[in-house]
Amino acid sequence: MLVDITVDLQYGDCGKGKVTHHLCRTKGYTHVLRYNGGCNAGHTIYHDGKKYVTHHIPAGVFFGVKSIIGSGCVVSKHQFFKELEELRAGGINPDGLVYIAKNAHVITDNHLLEDGSDNQIGTTKKGNGPAYRDKYSRTGVRAEEVPEFEPYLIDLYEEFHGNKKVKILGEGAQGFGLDIDWGDYPYVTSSHCTSAGALLNAIPPAWVQDVWGVAKIYETYVGAKNFEPDDPVFQQIRDVGDEYGATTGRPRQCNWMDFDLLNKACKINGVNKLVFNKMDILREVGVWKLFKDGQLIEFKEENEMKDWIRSNFRRDQVEIFFSADKNKI
Ligand code: IMP
Ligand code: MG
Repeated sequence: MLVDITVDLQYGDCGKGKVTHHLCRTKGYTHVLRYNGGCNAGHTIYHDGKKYVTHHIPAGVFFGVKSIIGSGCVVSKHQFFKELEELRAGGINPDGLVYIAKNAHVITDNHLLEDGSDNQIGTTKKGNGPAYRDKYSRTGVRAEEVPEFEPYLIDLYEEFHGNKKVKILGEGAQGFGLDIDWGDYPYVTSSHCTSAGALLNAIPPAWVQDVWGVAKIYETYVGAKNFEPDDPVFQQIRDVGDEYGATTGRPRQCNWMDFDLLNKACKINGVNKLVFNKMDILREVGVWKLFKDGQLIEFKEENEMKDWIRSNFRRDQVEIFFSADKNKI
């Protein structure tokens, strides 16, 4: 039994979809499991030259691998069926591949309505917070209570702890900076976005092999707090990097990478493989900076920044990848 996990180390939108897609293509998983969040997530995936944005459904579906929305997730009926249709329209056949944990919780129309009037946190207005609130106040609805979900239901205990060998990829949503416990509360989402969140889906800790942390070489955040410093370089990064939300289309606020946050995220998540995405964006903008101990460090060029980053992880035996390609790690 073996589990790899992908986890976002910043504020979501770091390119987990790409890493997940890459791992699915190369590692022979039997299952891909979305372990937290709802349709607030937007995973952009380039498959066979086409762009797909999934919200609920894990990336295994592109490779004929069983794809499960886990017990740590909340799921909207409307969005789930819409996404199945979108996959079909894009030439991906999801039949027999997509499942929902019986004990996942449901995002109801009322949740959606309530979240629609949020203006404190800057949520995605997809009903995520109210659905988790009802789950924890024990007034929620579970997937197994929704008749339309019946053909898709799965029991994670039976599925993972039966007789068959499993090799699972746990696909995280959102990111460390948005985690309900470790993020910048209250500007957070309502689920457990860390690798620990994966374990809440019938996964024993001893099964975990690789934790793939995904970061961007600069940071972005969408939500109500002020995040972007006053500097025109960030508008440039936003435009070159196409930093507009996959779920809501909102412009993402940009900043330089906070190396201390990244380091903390790597430690707490137990990251042993670390991917920095979007190197090509800073290459085009031509500025290389990051924050360490609250101070801005500027590098003369890309390799100087890479070497600095590598040397800061040397002791931790983290394998580092720098990616400058939408499709490749
Ligand atoms: P909620 O998850 O919709 O309740 O939103 C809470 C906060 O998390 C807001 O700042 C959202 O913009 C942010 N958020 C939620 N999901 C994502 C995501 O997938 N990517 C980036 N930010 C997200
Ligand atoms: Mg996203």
